[in-house]
Formats: sequence, C-alpha cells, structure tokens
Amino acid sequence: MSVFDYTDVQGLLRFGYNKMTAASYALLRVRNVTEARSWLRSAPVTTAEKRAPLPRTALNVGFTAPGLAALGIPDPVIAQFSHEFRSGMALESRSRQLGDIEASAPVHWAWGGPGREPHLAVMFFGEPDAYNDFVSRTKGAAWNEAFETLDCLGTSDFKGHEPFGFVDGISQPDIDWDQKRIAPCIQLDYTNIVSLGEFLLGYRNEYGKYADRPLIPDNSAAGLLPVAEDAPAMKDLGRNGTYLVMRQLRQDVRLFWRFVTEQAECNAAMAEDLAAAMVGRKLEGDPLEPILAGSIPGIHLPKPGQPEQNRFTFDRDPLGNRCPFGAHVRRANPRNTDFPDHPPNVIAKLITMLGFGPKGFRDDLSSSVRFHRILRRGREYGALVTREQALAPAAIPDSESGLHFICLNADICRQFEFLQNAWINSTKFSGLTGESDPLLGNRAALGGCPVTGDFTMQSSSGLRRRISGVPQFIQVRGGAYFFMPGIRALRYIATSAT
Ligand code: HEM
Repeated sequence: MSVFDYTDVQGLLRFGYNKMTAASYALLRVRNVTEARSWLRSAPVTTAEKRAPLPRTALNVGFTAPGLAALGIPDPVIAQFSHEFRSGMALESRSRQLGDIEASAPVHWAWGGPGREPHLAVMFFGEPDAYNDFVSRTKGAAWNEAFETLDCLGTSDFKGHEPFGFVDGISQPDIDWDQKRIAPCIQLDYTNIVSLGEFLLGYRNEYGKYADRPLIPDNSAAGLLPVAEDAPAMKDLGRNGTYLVMRQLRQDVRLFWRFVTEQAECNAAMAEDLAAAMVGRKLEGDPLEPILAGSIPGIHLPKPGQPEQNRFTFDRDPLGNRCPFGAHVRRANPRNTDFPDHPPNVIAKLITMLGFGPKGFRDDLSSSVRFHRILRRGREYGALVTREQALAPAAIPDSESGLHFICLNADICRQFEFLQNAWINSTKFSGLTGESDPLLGNRAALGGCPVTGDFTMQSSSGLRRRISGVPQFIQVRGGAYFFMPGIRALRYIATSAT
C-alpha cells in the first residue's frame, strides 16, 4: 500500500480533471500584497488525494518568479529556483531555443511578453453546472482588491480532441508514486514508469539526484515546510511542488486541412492518412505502429495494463515505414531505451554499455527518453471548426482556437525545453534534414539549414515521399513558467514571506 502523502500535492499533478469540462486560467498580477496573501491563505486549493464522492470542482495555483518576489519571497530564496524558471519563457535567447520567433515572438504575445508577465495563474475547473458558482464563490469579495487580472484564458470542450480533430491526452507517463524504481539504473526496455523526482521536486529523479529548488534554514517561519530529504537540517520549499509550463498555441485548423487535402489531390482518405502521418496517430488515437496486445519475444513492450492505444514501441518500425521519424508523437516520445540500437543479447549490451559496438547514424541524436518525459495537462480553447467547415469557404473569419498547452515537470530545461528544442524543433532529429515537427515547426530558415518546411514519409518500398512547403500551422500567443507549490509551501508563501 502506498505511503505517499497526496495531501501535500496539488491535484493537477495526479488528475486531469477530465469530468470537469469547464475550466479557465486567471492570469493575475498582485495589486495588494496583504489582500493577495490573505486570499491565498483561504483559497480551497485541491490536493492530489482521492476523494469519494468525486469532487465536482477544483482549484490549483502557480507562481512565476516575479510573482514570488511580489508576494515578498526574499531574493536569496528565489535565487535557488532553476535558472529557466527565474529568467522566464520570454527571455530572448530562450525564444530562439524554443522557436518563438517572427510571428510567435514574445513581443507579439497577448500575455507573458515584455510588460505582460503574470505573477500567478489561478486555475479553476468544474463540472459545467457547478463551475460558475464555484468561480464566483472562490474569488470572493477581496479578489479585485488583491489582484489585477491580466488575462483570463477560457477553455472549450471538444470531447477529448484537440482543434485539428485528433484525440489528445492518450499517452502520459506513469509516475512512480511509491518510489519503487531504483535510480540511477540502466534501462534496457522501454517502460512508461518514471521516477517521482521527474515530476515532483524534492524526490530522486531518473539520475538518482534532486532537481534545483530552494532549501531554507529551519527557522520558525519555515517550520511548517517539509524537511529536505537530501539535507535534513534544511526545510524544502520545493518538495511536493513542480514547474508548470503554460503556452497558448493558436492552431490554424483551416490551413491544416486545406494543406493536407491539396497534397492528397482532394482525396479525403489520403488527406486523412497524411494528417495521421504528421501526427503519428490516427484521428481516433490509434498508433500507426500496430498495437501489440501480447508479449512477443525480443520486443520490448510498455507494461501491460497501460491503455491499449499506448501499448507500443517503435521497435518493429526501425526504418519509419509505419510511423515516420518526423511525426509529432515520434519526435515527442521516440519510446527508446538507454540503447537505441537494442543490442540483441547480454554480451552485445555489455559491449554497448562500455561505449563500443556498432552505432546507427540515427542513434547519437536520440537521447534516452526516460530523462525527457512530461506530464501534459493542456486544454483546447476557442470555437470548434470541423474538417468539413475548414474545407468550405469561410463566410466570416474563424475566431481563434488552439491549445492552452500545459505540462508539468521538475526540470524545465531537461524536460520541456529539451523536447521542444532538441526533438520537436530539431531539423536533424533522427537523421532527418530540412524538416522540423510537421504540426509545431515555425519553418524559419536556420543557419546551415535554409529549408525547414519539408516532411518525409519513409516507405517499405524504399521510395520515400517528401512533401515540401509545409506551412506554419501554429502560432505562439502567450506563455510563462510557473512554480506550482505543494500545499504546505503554498501556505508558507501566503503566510510567512517577509
Ligand atoms: C497545438 C499544439 C499541439 C498539438 C495539436 C498536439 C497534438 C498531439 C496529439 C494529437 C498527440 C497524440 C495523442 C496523445 O498521445 O495524447 C500528441 C502527443 C504528444 N504531444 Fe503534442 N500537440 C501539441 C503540442 C505539443 C507540445 C508543445 C509538446 C511538447 C513540447 C507536445 C508533446 C507531446 C507529447 C510528449 C506527446 C505524447 C507522445 C507519446 O508519448 O506518444 N505536444 N500531441
């Protein structure tokens, strides 16, 4: 039985609140510190504890680094948070890394860019009939005195589909809440279980180490905080908290369906196949690599018990003939192990571990995936534009729709930023050239790589198909890095900061 204390963790880490189909994210700046702290002290923040009956509403809160400063957290404490968190998503050098340039540059963002940085995000979730009442009750009378509302991001309910029409939220890592995983270890088979410390601060990660977070001397103010596991004389402000990455990604649904339809010369089935090749899954979520229902000798399967649509690796598709190397899901999770070339026996594994043995030209570019998992908690926004509507002439311009992408991770640089930069944006991923993620790429020319708008589909016939001029379907409209503290740390921020 688990001994993990879920009552000190915010619920979003454990639950997607899928039944609570109404949600919004209030992006706020602190107007009055005393009132803001007072609101935070009494806010009914939802924990990760399972409750019966199931709650019908939920509330979670995250802070940016300027937000912690505005609430009075001392600079030496903030300085112990990770560099990425402190410097923020809109830093110029980071924008280049994340591909946030030209139309997606922070100067054009609706929020999160220069002069528009939120201090905190208050996330409201609820079943539709309970939601409005919950939001107004929770805000209470002091809300406007405590906070200035920079933006309030609404969400929509497309019944589990993202705006292009694909089922979303299928593949998520299994968090090792019971800490049975012994790290550091060598991983020979792909597994979906990932160390707790990859998602929660204050616990061992896949390297057996602890991510950056503030440790505070054990004085009376810090008294309520948990003890630091790796420094027992200190209190741990990070423990049971995580970093939350939020990005507003506008999706051009019309452009997406028109482009694939044009490429398929108006053949609807072929257009759908091309769209599925770009995503790496079919519209209803089936992987392009056939699902492996049982154990087949020599094939490394994720654990039984995972959702059926997730029980596959790319081991049987080493040449990308079924799921192209450049497809979004193959870039975002290549489902590899510590040895991408899968040495066939123990001796071959030992030779590989010692750094010898044959190397495929794709191997060096694909770091072991267990160090780069993220927990996705995003929600779609805007009005639904169906594929049929997208292909018909527009009577009036579509209103904006897209994804409020949210992911949780303990190391923004090694997890979210690595994924976005080294896999999704990379024009060299898996030995490819001239292309980046077909859904997310910004298509901007790079030094040494003037073309980034290709998409290649490998084929068993040996005749690969390459599409050129893939447009930019996604534009970044806002973004920020937040610290989503544990419950005790939240009380400390609201109470003890001086
Ligand atoms: C508007 C933008 C995006 C769209 C439309 C989109 C769409 C999808 C879809 C349809 C799936 C497959 C279903 C699933 O497994 O949940 C997926 C999976 C995934 N996406 Fe995205 N995505 C977007 C942005 C991002 C970003 C910004 C990242 C990370 C930087 C990301 C990372 C992932 C990951 C890690 C998976 C799971 C891969 C796996 O484990 O198989 N996505 N996405």
